Amino acid sequence: MTKSFKEALKARRTFYQIDNISTLSEKELLDLIRFAVEHVPSAFNSQTTRVVLLTDEAHQKLWKIVKNTLRKHVPEAAFAKTEQKIDGSFSCGYGTILYFEDMSIVHALQEQFPTYKDNFPIWAEQTDAMHQLTIWTMLEEAGMGASLQHYNPLIDDEVRAAWDLPAHWKLIAQMPFGIPVAQPGEKEVMPLDKRVFAFTD
Ligand SMILES: Cc1cc2nc3c(=O)[nH]c(=O)nc-3n(C[C@H](O)[C@H](O)[C@H](O)COP(=O)(O)O)c2cc1C
Repeated sequence: MTKSFKEALKARRTFYQIDNISTLSEKELLDLIRFAVEHVPSAFNSQTTRVVLLTDEAHQKLWKIVKNTLRKHVPEAAFAKTEQKIDGSFSCGYGTILYFEDMSIVHALQEQFPTYKDNFPIWAEQTDAMHQLTIWTMLEEAGMGASLQHYNPLIDDEVRAAWDLPAHWKLIAQMPFGIPVAQPGEKEVMPLDKRVFAFTD
């Protein structure tokens, strides 16, 4: 690891300007994802998160699905903006990582532990987000830039059909990535004493 955890976490940003180049081979990318999936925690160790790496044609296919789906659902003016983002940013990357939650496990846990029934879907989203941040940060550490997108649930059926994924996988997020070709701007950060508190008695 060339960057420490703290350095990588600090350097992780939303990169919209990305190119179709990876600093990692396909195997290294998969190893990175597998490492994250193995070590990120989940409620009751339920391991509900599913991660799919799309590169090459599959990456392009995803963004075609997003465009075709949104064209049908959003007003023309809003669609033009989306199309610009897809063509000028997301599809220009090297690949996209899809994050899902296996709802069959969530539903089984709800039946098994009725006391926590309402919490399991929330915990599933939380563990999914932990995977997202981990992989986003590891990509940063590997010299890549990524962003987090949410065209779900509009695209869910088409995405599952395109790669023959199970109906009980709920799409949570899409993470296009590639080498960054421009740096993000300054980020406003609220004073930390408004967000972090400590008590000793
Ligand atoms: C839960 C969550 C949802 C987000 N959804 C989107 C999104 O749909 N589209 C997008 O462009 N960025 C999305 N972002 C990125 C945030 O806008 C971004 O992380 C934030 O503005 C801070 O900027 P930074 O990532 O450069 O630190 C999301 C981030 C989080 C944590």
